Amino acid sequence: MNTDTKIKIGLFGFGVVGHGLYDILSKSKGFQAEIIKIAVKDKTKKRSLSEHFFTFDKNELLNNPEINLIVELIDDADEAYQIVSAALKNGKSVVTANKKMLAEHLEELVYLQQKHQVSLLYEASSCGSIPIIRNLEEYYDNELLNSVSGIFNGSSNYILSKIFNEKLSYGIALKQAQELGFAESDATLDVGGYDPKFKLIIIAAHSFGLFIKPQNVLNIGIQNLSDFDVQYAKQKGYKIKLIAVAKKTNGKSISLFVTPQFVKPREHLFNVENEYNAVTVEAGFSDTQFFLGKGAGGHPTGMAVLSDISAMRHNYKYEYKRHLKQEDLHYTTDIELEVYLRFTDESILSKLEFSSISEYFSGTTNNYVTGIISLKNLLKNKTLLETEKAFLVRL
Ligand code: HSE
Repeated sequence: MNTDTKIKIGLFGFGVVGHGLYDILSKSKGFQAEIIKIAVKDKTKKRSLSEHFFTFDKNELLNNPEINLIVELIDDADEAYQIVSAALKNGKSVVTANKKMLAEHLEELVYLQQKHQVSLLYEASSCGSIPIIRNLEEYYDNELLNSVSGIFNGSSNYILSKIFNEKLSYGIALKQAQELGFAESDATLDVGGYDPKFKLIIIAAHSFGLFIKPQNVLNIGIQNLSDFDVQYAKQKGYKIKLIAVAKKTNGKSISLFVTPQFVKPREHLFNVENEYNAVTVEAGFSDTQFFLGKGAGGHPTGMAVLSDISAMRHNYKYEYKRHLKQEDLHYTTDIELEVYLRFTDESILSKLEFSSISEYFSGTTNNYVTGIISLKNLLKNKTLLETEKAFLVRL
């Protein structure tokens, strides 16, 4: 795209982020971009813009020669994949915020953008307003990264904040996160740790150059949190946060996981509350760096989309430098984690094959252990943890 060319956008979706983007664009005087058409799904919904903006036919955008950029902000990942791959094949560059679609199809989409000489940008897909992907691509490209971790889901952090700080019930806190537009249409993606897992996979591709499939990454969520767990944490002065981790486990392997974690007051993450996200980068030369910003909501996420649209003016593309460097790294689940596990039925302990147990508590209704367990065993027994209503927290 020539830097003088006006950007003419075909927008898919007009939900929280779509509205946010529209609002920011209309306030960004002098920014040479215009929304030409918006494709939406629901024919019955009342819209805040004039009818002529909208269409229900995706081809009206994909085949419109006037449109030189597709911005995809719908929440159906399968449909988003159809739209984004068709656009790239059609020679149109794409900005998307769809983390599920990206995590599931990243390698293929990267191939498509290269083959068709277009650009696919997705800063808004991971950690909302925190510019982590661009930093990993451009600033840290020659750093020796040891780990990238943090709070990657605004909704579950909002829920945990309300439970710990305001004693709200889980149900009410979840409802608020939905009403505020932070949660996914299917909130299981948030509270089950899927959404932060998708973001972690995207971030890992830019940090370590590996495209890892979602089914190979452990995600344990906060659905089974009970008052007992909250009291346990509070008595020790801890909070519980849902944390995503991508780290080098020895010089040659990378591990990824999403689990609840006890956080101590001296840790930066302790004070990250509500819909805020945070990313900690641990690196050989810069040491520890901490990014904080809103991880959900129309304006913060819309701003990340706008930043990508603006980058398109300069023909910016992710280069996937770490992937191309072909460092000799591989993905492994062969690592051990230290955990707290609260459960009712004792048989879960032998099924999970703890490597060692350091503390055992048996009460009238709740029991817990702390000990060491392999990531591989946890991944294998994830469904068991869910059905047994057990709650696991990393220590
Ligand atoms: N549901 C997501 C969250 C939205 O709560 O973080 C932003 O990706």
